[in-house]
Amino acid sequence: MIGSTLVNDAGTAAPVAEGNSAAAIAKPEPSQPSSAPAKIRVTNLSFFYDEVQALFNNTIEIPDRHITALIGPSGCGKSTFLRALNRMNDEIPGTRVQGEVLLDGVDIYGPTCDKVILRRRVGMVFQRPNPFPKSIYENVAYGPRVHGEGRKSRLDEIVEHSLRRAALWDEVKDGLHKSAFDISGGQQQRLCIARVLAVEPEVLLMDEPCSALDPASTFRIEELMRELQKDIAIVIVTHNMQQAARVSDTTGFFLKGELLEVGPTLRIFSKPDDKRTEDYIQGRFG
Ligand SMILES: Nc1ncnc2c1ncn2[C@@H]1O[C@H](COP(=O)(O)OP(=O)(O)OP(=O)(O)O)[C@@H](O)[C@H]1O
Ligand SMILES: [Mg+2]
Repeated sequence: MIGSTLVNDAGTAAPVAEGNSAAAIAKPEPSQPSSAPAKIRVTNLSFFYDEVQALFNNTIEIPDRHITALIGPSGCGKSTFLRALNRMNDEIPGTRVQGEVLLDGVDIYGPTCDKVILRRRVGMVFQRPNPFPKSIYENVAYGPRVHGEGRKSRLDEIVEHSLRRAALWDEVKDGLHKSAFDISGGQQQRLCIARVLAVEPEVLLMDEPCSALDPASTFRIEELMRELQKDIAIVIVTHNMQQAARVSDTTGFFLKGELLEVGPTLRIFSKPDDKRTEDYIQGRFG
């Protein structure tokens, strides 16, 4: 519906002007979008929950140091796709994957892949902040410890560095040994991001990371993504069209398990090739 409102992740309605308005708020195109090398290359990816097929032959390149947004109606396979990129779906019994996912040219579904290392390299942040029932410090130190770092001085450095990168340090530095449950939801989400950053991922997968947050916390996470993008590849799933337009360089539109269209965000939001992409972006369905 043209001239409607879009509801952002914080549930706040924001006006959308007539026409292809999302283009007006879209982030400017990077000068050389196609020059970014592919960090992840997905080819003909299909996915099954028992007999039910959830993804159909999807092909996409996830460039390094670039933000890729995935949009599409509920149940169209966005989370399934995201979880396929670090084999989180493997933990669900009865699932099956077909096709190829290359990380720096190496098949993550190949026999030599170590899933612990894969998930360190390809980290994930979920919709609801899910800190461990531990202190703020221990949440961040957990990953490096699991990966063998035992030196207290080094862990202190990693905790501070990760909390700074997640733009949380100043707010928690005087209470690092407080329970992670005693900070706000927005702070918990940044803590979860710090926990992932502590193991130096090369790719960050974010599944609706702001949907439980207020506009101010959403803004902080988006700023953080732009900062992180200088070093790593980010893939974000969002139902918030304005967020996709604001933060991403490339947008992929999923419909019924199929990546219908992928392209530069500005083009997807202003002149999509497929009528269904346009209808979805303009709120006609989904
Ligand atoms: N653990 C599961 N077991 C069986 N089917 C599942 C499971 N998780 C998802 N599905 C099915 O796979 C399809 C895709 O679901 P998925 O969660 O990937 O969609 P989505 O695009 O992330 O939706 P949303 O926007 O609501 O989060 C849906 O039909 C869903 O019912
Ligand atoms: Mg989902």
